[in-house]
Amino acid sequence: MSQTTRGRITTRTIAMPGDTNPSGDIFGGWVLSQMDIAAGICAGQRAQSRVVTVSVDKMSFIRPVKVGDILGIYTEVDSVGKTSINVHIEAWVRRDRIGLREKVTEAKFKFVAVNDDGKPIPLPVFEDLPSYVSQIQ
Ligand SMILES: CC(C)(COP(=O)(O)OP(=O)(O)OC[C@H]1O[C@@H](n2cnc3c(N)ncnc32)[C@H](O)[C@@H]1OP(=O)(O)O)[C@@H](O)C(=O)NCCC(=O)NCCS
Repeated sequence: MSQTTRGRITTRTIAMPGDTNPSGDIFGGWVLSQMDIAAGICAGQRAQSRVVTVSVDKMSFIRPVKVGDILGIYTEVDSVGKTSINVHIEAWVRRDRIGLREKVTEAKFKFVAVNDDGKPIPLPVFEDLPSYVSQIQ
């Protein structure tokens, strides 16, 4: 497995005892929600608007997450449509805060840019986003 992260670090948090399943590992739904938060930040910056998650694809749970791990979520825009944004997401942990770094999950999430009424709106063209372009380069 590749030891190289793909995308930009978007969020970091620590896995807490309250996030565990009955086996003592971190609950998959918690990891998924952290990925949704980070991918939503990534998509919202590209859309420059509110976005909603429309689909979750190719979600792979590769390694367990443990209490005390630092979870870092990396995101990258894969492709865009008229109103939609496909985001590649990877979650990596640093074991017990300072230990080995391992990739724990990856996925593709799709978001749609929406207006205040929740209706799809066209994405801004890339060239009209100078500050966004400079951030991701
Ligand atoms: C996302 C949403 C606004 C799309 O509304 P819609 O009426 O289907 O809109 P459209 O048919 O015009 O499609 C808009 C875009 O979404 C994409 N899309 C719509 N449904 C999709 C689906 N099920 N899977 C993947 N893409 C989808 C379309 O391909 C289109 O992309 P494009 O403009 O880049 O070509 C609507 O489905 C919605 O509100 N869903 C709930 C979102 C939500 O609450 N998320 C949080 C879950 S807790």
